[in-house]
Amino acid sequence: TTLSILEQTQEAVAYLASQLPEGLQKPQVAIVCGSGLSGLADTVQAGSRAEYDYASIPHFPRPTVAGHAGKLVFGLLGQKIPAVFMVGRAHYYEGNSMDQVTFPIRVFKLLGVNTVVLTNAAGGLNPDYNVGDIMLLNDASGKSFGLESFYSCLLTTFQHIFLAGLAGVHPLRGPNIEEFGTRFPPLSDAYDLDLRRHVHQTWKEIIPSQNTRKLHEGVYAFVGGPTYETRAESRMLRMMGADVVGMSTVPEIVVARHCGLRVLAFSLVTNNAVLTPVPRGDEELLQGKDASELNAIIEEGKAGHEEVL
Ligand code: 6GU
Repeated sequence: TTLSILEQTQEAVAYLASQLPEGLQKPQVAIVCGSGLSGLADTVQAGSRAEYDYASIPHFPRPTVAGHAGKLVFGLLGQKIPAVFMVGRAHYYEGNSMDQVTFPIRVFKLLGVNTVVLTNAAGGLNPDYNVGDIMLLNDASGKSFGLESFYSCLLTTFQHIFLAGLAGVHPLRGPNIEEFGTRFPPLSDAYDLDLRRHVHQTWKEIIPSQNTRKLHEGVYAFVGGPTYETRAESRMLRMMGADVVGMSTVPEIVVARHCGLRVLAFSLVTNNAVLTPVPRGDEELLQGKDASELNAIIEEGKAGHEEVL
């Protein structure tokens, strides 16, 4: 017999409840770590920490990339708020169903979580998010002039375009699971305003000391992947109003809103989706270049971006 999604979720939650130590049983916040962002889970101290491989949790979807096992990390935020981190996620392009990629969100809901923070790596479509802008600012700080600063631009997502969902590939297609939410959930205010206000406030308090990073708000377009976009596709997405493009997060947000979770989402813009300053995956090329060489590469990329868009 096949179990319903609700039953599978309940099994996963029952397993975790049987394993979790006192004090970590009821996480309030779930944080999904995107590609290259697994370090977020290190904010939890070793003393109060419990980890579970996805493989040990019933029905939990696992990333297929070798060496990336995927695990849940339970711990306290700021020594007081119980939280759970998802380190590694299963993507739709790996062959998972929409039910599978959104399964963890429903597990969080039944664990008692009220807020989810989703993060991802995305490609930039908005020319204002050009990675070069960030690098030029970082240039002033001299030393920490590595790949990380070259590629970093942070965005809080406040809207999304779910092409697959609009066309019918949707995690809530099928009989509605009343235990989680309503048949026709609204998404016009999916991204919690209070949480976003809080982020901007905190950003202002923290960032002036570094004066390197810009916090944007923008529109994330979900695509199935695994190919990156052609120039025509990037142009189309830009014309539709997208600022960044990526292959995750949106199905999870839809399911989180269905079951009434508060949602906050961040994209780390890792590259220019239209025309990367360097060929994708060719990061070694940047290593050892000095500031003016990198600037030249970036100017070239910017010019290309404007031309294409
Ligand atoms: Cl350029 N496109 C997509 N679809 N996903 C990405 C990306 C680009 N860069 C990081 N993730």
